[in-house]
Amino acid sequence: MPVVAIIGAQWGDEGKGKVVDLLAQQAKMVVRFSGGDNAGHSVANPYGEFKLHLVPSGIFSPRVVCIIGNGVVINPVVLIDEIEQLNKRGVDTSRLFISDRAHLIMPYHILLDGLEEEARGGKALGTTRKGVGPAFTDKAARLGIRTGDLLDKEALLERLRFILDYKNVILTKIYGVSPLSLDEVYAQYCQYAGYLAPYIRETTTMIDEALNQGKLILLEGAQGALLDPDFGTYPYTTSSSPLAGGGCLGAGLSPTKIDRILGVFKAYCTRVGGGPMPTELKDETGDLIRERAHEYGTTTGRPRRCGWFDAVAARFSTRINGFTGAVVTRLDILDIMPRLKICVGYELDGKSIDYFPGSVAALARCQPVYEELPGWQVPTSDIRDYDQLPLQARQYISRLEELISCPVSLICVGPEREQAIKRTPIL
Ligand code: GDP
Ligand code: IMO
Ligand code: MG
Repeated sequence: MPVVAIIGAQWGDEGKGKVVDLLAQQAKMVVRFSGGDNAGHSVANPYGEFKLHLVPSGIFSPRVVCIIGNGVVINPVVLIDEIEQLNKRGVDTSRLFISDRAHLIMPYHILLDGLEEEARGGKALGTTRKGVGPAFTDKAARLGIRTGDLLDKEALLERLRFILDYKNVILTKIYGVSPLSLDEVYAQYCQYAGYLAPYIRETTTMIDEALNQGKLILLEGAQGALLDPDFGTYPYTTSSSPLAGGGCLGAGLSPTKIDRILGVFKAYCTRVGGGPMPTELKDETGDLIRERAHEYGTTTGRPRRCGWFDAVAARFSTRINGFTGAVVTRLDILDIMPRLKICVGYELDGKSIDYFPGSVAALARCQPVYEELPGWQVPTSDIRDYDQLPLQARQYISRLEELISCPVSLICVGPEREQAIKRTPIL
């Protein structure tokens, strides 16, 4: 059985949680490998409706081992709350493990995320303010504290003292806010340590064992390719790599071990936060999609910017990830549209281009070139068989497939686990 990476192919919120929950029924292990609680993965299944920020979306399948990998940054408050909420609702979390190498989000990361955004003024990035960017900054600066550090209280105190001294200088001298108390932060994190210790493990060996047994392992991506710090709309990006390549680093897995890479695309585009989005619709069609689809952030509640499917961006995403298959979610949202548009190229400074520019300034000047297709205007939510989809819906899927040069293996027509149309084998 293979290792399958499930990757956000646009600007996040494509429906990765739903797809992982669905496929996890056949898996042995699900590993989250990037981001932090900036992610919000919605799952609707027989247990109810859930919004997961850190716990992998495979947790609802009774035999699946769920791992929060080394590439994730963890806010212990959020994780503990999530575990408790799941337990209260009858979901067993005894199969959850946390990499001892995963970094912790500390109170100063959350403070600094907000302060840095305020300081950017009109150039704010629109971060989720969860402290994720500052935590990854500290990881690279070798100023991080990891979950494994929670297991040695004396060493934790020493490390926290050293780092907090430094952070307090920044908080007081640069931002003019009150310093954080070493005693308070230490006491808080010792409490979290008590709760989380049983979950903390060396997880690469667990993954290796599952691999050796030939079990199906899913890598659960967070965010989306166009938010990647290298290939996304920098600086309007997140701070860890949501790409398939990030899956290797964030789980501790060789690139040679990934067999399939599934790109999850919405049938249209959304984006939350700042940065260019060539197909954004600032009109009643955009509002219609937002309201019909309830496009409001799972993590922050902010309205998502909505627009037509951008095949230029999608092709780029497919190339840098190497998708072997695609999932199209939220097809049902388009059921009411008399006509649909797909962006097939950009016009940049009077010239036609077919690539996704690296410069955010250039991308902001790109005008979408659209192709129009007829809508189907019949409900699709109850359809489970590809051949039963209206002709125009099949034509829409075929055109997306052609444009992104990647077979569409799965189509989702509603938030519930079973609201999916399996077209070609995924696993
Ligand atoms: P994620 O971050 O990629 O897991 O996506 P989010 O959970 O943030 O946002 C996706 C939203 O779409 C959630 O509200 C899902 O319940 C919902 N969803 C997923 N697939 C479908 C679908 O095919 N149709 C509809 N109507 N909603 C869907
Ligand atoms: P999931 O996993 C959508 C966006 C933020 C902001 C930018 C930087 O649910 O798809 P950050 O807090 O990461 O420093 O914010 O990235 N962003 C997401 N947008 N879905 C997400 O996760 C996101 N995680 C971060 O809105 O624009
Ligand atoms: Mg989300």
